[in-house]
Amino acid sequence: MRRPIVGLSVGLAALLAFACTRGAAADGPAHAYVGAEKCKMCHNSPAKGAQFTKWTESKHAKAFVTLAGEEAKKVAAAKGVADPQKDPQCLRCHVTGSGAPADRLTDKYKATDGVTCESCHGPGSDYWKMDVMKDLTKATAAGLMMPDEKTCTTCHNSESPTFKGFDFAAMKAKIAHPNPAKAAK
Ligand code: HEC
Ligand code: HEC
Ligand code: HEC
Ligand code: HEC
Repeated sequence: MRRPIVGLSVGLAALLAFACTRGAAADGPAHAYVGAEKCKMCHNSPAKGAQFTKWTESKHAKAFVTLAGEEAKKVAAAKGVADPQKDPQCLRCHVTGSGAPADRLTDKYKATDGVTCESCHGPGSDYWKMDVMKDLTKATAAGLMMPDEKTCTTCHNSESPTFKGFDFAAMKAKIAHPNPAKAAK
């Protein structure tokens, strides 16, 4: 029974990708990036897990700044890249929304924020409002994602010049920002 199931899910993935591409073209722009500050206003209370503060303390929030450092210069030189903070070869994994068309970047979006909430949870323009957010079904339909290992390995892979392997469980624990109120249930 294994083979047909695999075949079916591959077919389904292709169909979904096709449907999404068509949807974006037919229904106007896809969800836009609103920036991490937008999430902060509702996701920074310590009682609910202070997600924003935890993110600012993570390396993801420094991913753009890293590209200006000495190590980045060495990595870039080896690849023939002149300025890592301007080159899409580095930005595509170090900055959320890099390469997205201008109509998908709102005025609050900041490339200097590095890898933000929206790299893992999806661009937020259509789910960040309270009436959508408080209803998980609505939020998911509006683009909210709960990331899994595949989300991480779009960047944590051997195309990263400094890649040393990726252990999902260990790396997830390093960036954990659970809502303690929910964990108690
Ligand atoms: C106006 C307030 C508000 C804003 C702004 C907001 N959220 Fe939320 N969010 C909520 C509420 C309310 C919930 C549901 C209860 C909870 O988990 O705290 C929620 C839940 C979530 C969840 C958990 C979903 C689940 O499976 O339970 C994620 C992830 C999330 N938000 C991400 C974001 C991101 C990323 C942004 C910024 C793009 C954002 N939120 C902006 C209010 C907000
Ligand atoms: C958009 C690309 C991108 C995605 C998606 C992404 N990361 Fe990262 N991650 C990075 C970059 C870039 C760095 C390095 C930042 C720096 O050092 O400046 C990093 C660093 C980290 C670090 C710090 C490593 C260390 O040495 O301490 C952890 C932990 C991590 N990521 C976990 C995750 C997990 C878990 C996921 C998925 C849930 C994920 N990342 C998704 C780009 C990404
Ligand atoms: C495929 C995604 C990807 C690309 C492309 C990428 N990086 Fe990274 N980068 C990462 C991730 C993920 C990390 C954190 C873990 C790791 O090293 O794999 C990281 C970490 C780094 C670090 C910190 C290394 C450390 O050990 O803390 C530097 C410096 C860096 N990258 C520079 C660059 C430069 C310069 C470029 C462009 C020439 C670039 N990266 C392109 C994903 C990427
Ligand atoms: C590197 C990827 C990554 C980034 C960046 C990130 N998250 Fe998450 N987030 C996760 C993962 C992984 C989970 C846990 C998913 C699970 O348990 O299935 C999570 C869970 C959550 C939850 C649910 C917590 C709970 O216990 O119900 C909220 C709320 C949330 N994130 C908000 C945010 C906000 C706000 C930001 C930015 C300030 C952010 N996240 C940045 C990967 C990320």
